[in-house]
Amino acid sequence: MIALGCDHGGYDLMQAVIAYLDREGIAYKNLGCENNHDSVDYPDYGRKVVKAILSGECEKGIVICGTGIGISITCNRYKGIRAALCSDCFSAEATREHNDANILAMGGRVVGPGLAVKIVDTFLHTEFSGDERHKRRISKIEDC
Ligand code: RB5
Repeated sequence: MIALGCDHGGYDLMQAVIAYLDREGIAYKNLGCENNHDSVDYPDYGRKVVKAILSGECEKGIVICGTGIGISITCNRYKGIRAALCSDCFSAEATREHNDANILAMGGRVVGPGLAVKIVDTFLHTEFSGDERHKRRISKIEDC
């Protein structure tokens, strides 16, 4: 199950992500927001996605705000969360393989829907490499 959260700046791009998940039959839990015109606070939606992952209800998350920056900063304040802000497929693949990222962040005002869907597809279909050196580095992040 994939947890989804966005603010008004990420709402339109999230609709493209949802259409992709529906097409692919990938289960998700949409935690808002509700539309692209009411101004909301991205930390509220980042936190909802984090809670869904840390509770075990969802295995990964996708978060979107205008830049992807504010919502990824929010998510990364929680232990056990590794949110990667990606605007390209190479980074989406590498962050799964190397960082075992559990949240993908994108900027709704940064990437278009076609690229965003490819980034999501790459992120969701790339496994963590499991290499010892990457595990060691991730455990050092957890120790911070
Ligand atoms: C909202 O206007 C905007 O600040 C937000 O979506 C995001 O870009 C913050 O990092």
